[in-house]
Amino acid sequence: MEWGRQNRLSRIIKPETGRTVMLAVDHGYFLGPTYKLENARETIQPLLPYADALMLTRGILRTSVDPSTSVPVVLRVSGGSSIIGADLSNEGITTSIEEAVRMNVSAVALSIFVGSEYEHQTLMNLAYLIDDAQEFGIPVLAVTAVGKELEKRDARFLSLACRIAAEIGASFVKTYFCEEFEKVAQSCPAPLVIAGGPKLETELDAFKMAYDAVQKGAVGVDMGRNIWQNPKPIPMIKAVRAVVHEGAKPEEALDIYKSGG
Ligand code: R5P
Repeated sequence: MEWGRQNRLSRIIKPETGRTVMLAVDHGYFLGPTYKLENARETIQPLLPYADALMLTRGILRTSVDPSTSVPVVLRVSGGSSIIGADLSNEGITTSIEEAVRMNVSAVALSIFVGSEYEHQTLMNLAYLIDDAQEFGIPVLAVTAVGKELEKRDARFLSLACRIAAEIGASFVKTYFCEEFEKVAQSCPAPLVIAGGPKLETELDAFKMAYDAVQKGAVGVDMGRNIWQNPKPIPMIKAVRAVVHEGAKPEEALDIYKSGG
């Protein structure tokens, strides 16, 4: 891998552990003012010291994050649909690669919707973005989106989507945790991070998911709601960090969470 892309990726996936805890706050790009992200700055600011990278859109980056931050940015550059629109998968590229360079991002992120009506369009979006980003040495994160159909979260479907993303040339891939996740990880030659998904019932459920994902081959998490919709988001992210970077067991993470991190 060429130096610039490797260097940017190393800012996100920490070389010390080979893992990452990315904080996802890009939900508004299709969900609007998501619960606890209504005032994005208020939610993001206190969590920044504990995030290995921040995933968001340019609008929230400009308005809600100080440019003095040293936290690497993974800029979402796909969108164009909303949760109340006809089809969530009908996405295009919303931010140019030149804009991403201007904002000094460490990676760009784009969703692909495998199996949807707009499969071809979103896969070609990924291919064009990778070609553009390659010019500037910027890594591309492919997000294997499932839209409203959360039942699509099984190993067969996710293996297919992740492998296609890697074959097109994604530097790393974001997917969901599922049963037999090791099959997804083993068949994807690019590093994988998992999304948290909607807030789980208990903190322990979230720690178990993060623990199982990294044990079964993920390099970390790109987690949002399970962190910032928690009543104690700082202890939550600290506990997730212990799981991802130190291999803490879910029960140990729960102790960390309960003790305030
Ligand atoms: C969804 O496509 C968004 O890109 C989120 O970044 C992603 O779902 C991760 O956030 P959460 O852990 O809340 O699912």
